[in-house]
Amino acid sequence: MKILAINGSPRTVHSNTRRLTSFVLEGAAEAGAETEIIDLCDFRITPCTACEACSINGVCVNEDDVPGILARMREADGIVFASPVYIDNITGQMKVFFDRLADAIHYQVLTGKYGCAVVTTYDSGAEEVVAYLSHVLNYLGVIAVGSIGIATQGEAGTIDAKEPEARVLGKKLAGAIRDGFSDPVQEKILAENRGYFRTIVEENKEMRPAGYEEWVRKGWMD
Ligand SMILES: Cc1cc2nc3c(=O)[nH]c(=O)nc-3n(C[C@H](O)[C@H](O)[C@H](O)COP(=O)(O)O)c2cc1C
Repeated sequence: MKILAINGSPRTVHSNTRRLTSFVLEGAAEAGAETEIIDLCDFRITPCTACEACSINGVCVNEDDVPGILARMREADGIVFASPVYIDNITGQMKVFFDRLADAIHYQVLTGKYGCAVVTTYDSGAEEVVAYLSHVLNYLGVIAVGSIGIATQGEAGTIDAKEPEARVLGKKLAGAIRDGFSDPVQEKILAENRGYFRTIVEENKEMRPAGYEEWVRKGWMD
């Protein structure tokens, strides 16, 4: 069982969000998961220019690190999206990365995985950013098992005080991967999303027969 955490903070080892995420991963590891955390700032991620080349064959014109990160996401059973709050939103690094996932969203290539959201902030926006990260997980076909969002108020020790809660979240994620996890509300959202993206997959049928056949095989064209 593999869990990949993706941290949008540029502060690498100093990142509050990375520290909180590491507690989530420790909880998951205790429950038997093999875990990994990556910092987006260590990778070359070119912003999407809406050239629409990926619609034609699923391949971006930019030769950078995004395909490699996506391959790691595809290999993982669980995905943790982690970001600090920047101006009441995710960081720019995280958003530039998410924009590059549009084709993965359209083709729903991560369906069947579980995930969770991890957020830190000084004061504002944790709830909104948790909701957004969970929404993007759902967009990708991933069911979110929970989340943790912390406002530090600049107090030392706030992150460490939440270690037990973060570990519980990691255990829950590993448990969902091992035993399954049902959430009718999210399952309905995922089904609606597939209905919506089906139009795109159908429109691209001639250009991308393999992608279309995959949807047929999964019963998503019925
Ligand atoms: C550019 C920037 C924007 C920020 N915007 C907000 C904000 O809107 N609200 C807030 O409460 N904290 C804000 N913060 C504070 C961070 O969210 C907070 O320090 C967070 O824990 C940093 O996480 P990190 O150490 O993982 O990078 C901002 C920090 C930076 C550098």
